Amino acid sequence: MDCHLDPEELEFWESQKRCGEEIDLKLARDLPDDTPDFILKMMGDFEEDAAEFCFSGAEGLVLDAGCGNGNLLLRALKNKKIPAKPEKRALQVIGMDFSANMLCRAALRAKGNDRTGFLQGSVTDLPFQDQSFDRVISSGVLTCLPNTGAAARALQEFYRVLKPEGVLVVDFFSRTSHYTLIRKHLFRETIKPPEYVSPSEFNRALEDAGFSVLACRGFDFKPCQGYLFLNPWRRVIDPGYFQEKLSRYLERKVLPRQPGLNLLGYRIYVKCIKK
Ligand SMILES: C[S@@+](CC[C@H](N)C(=O)[O-])C[C@H]1O[C@@H](n2cnc3c(N)ncnc32)[C@H](O)[C@@H]1O
Repeated sequence: MDCHLDPEELEFWESQKRCGEEIDLKLARDLPDDTPDFILKMMGDFEEDAAEFCFSGAEGLVLDAGCGNGNLLLRALKNKKIPAKPEKRALQVIGMDFSANMLCRAALRAKGNDRTGFLQGSVTDLPFQDQSFDRVISSGVLTCLPNTGAAARALQEFYRVLKPEGVLVVDFFSRTSHYTLIRKHLFRETIKPPEYVSPSEFNRALEDAGFSVLACRGFDFKPCQGYLFLNPWRRVIDPGYFQEKLSRYLERKVLPRQPGLNLLGYRIYVKCIKK
């Protein structure tokens, strides 16, 4: 197998067999079966905001590279806040994923929507001709790749298939967020690229691939995230609920006025343009 592909990663996505809208949300966000309702609600809200950031202003042909079960593209196509302006070309979205299983789920959920199409392929070797797309979106995919070489290769492929001045939206987990630092120093977890990179490293990788950054959007300002799933008291009083409210408050009320704070998020989406 190509050294840019991770067989275990593929096996994980291929083996997901459960169905249903709630399951699709849990699956895309890697949540356990007994996830509390407020976390599901906040993940749903996150997907709405992420879809809006990724797709806002999009027109013409868009590639969702590593579309998974189609959560983001389906939300974007339903979202009335991402209007198809009359002067713009109609939006068409191609969903692509290397897992046939995830792709089938996406295609099934998009059934009847004539603005979507689906194709199997890898982000490290895109099955499209040069300069085919107006925009490429790739959410939660570079973070799954086996090494930094594969991530660099994917960025080169995104560059290749974008039209001149095409837009790329792509995300990473910040190695310098307080939450990552807690995981690294307190929980002794391995925090390494391509999953975790610093904002400046990610910026450099984008520039090396030929992009310049237009904007970024940070998510997840919680001090403690997933570890609260382990809290046996959470059915009585869940501190996660309060930190969740705080994080959402920062994302929705403070960040629009202080864009520089986006870089303090745990998960950061970056919008950039092909130079
Ligand atoms: C965390 S999910 C994200 C799904 C979706 N983009 C979202 O944000 O909801 C990661 C997806 O990337 C896909 N993936 C991982 N490596 C890939 C590769 N090399 N090429 C294409 N897809 C890949 C997986 O099959 C999975 O569907």
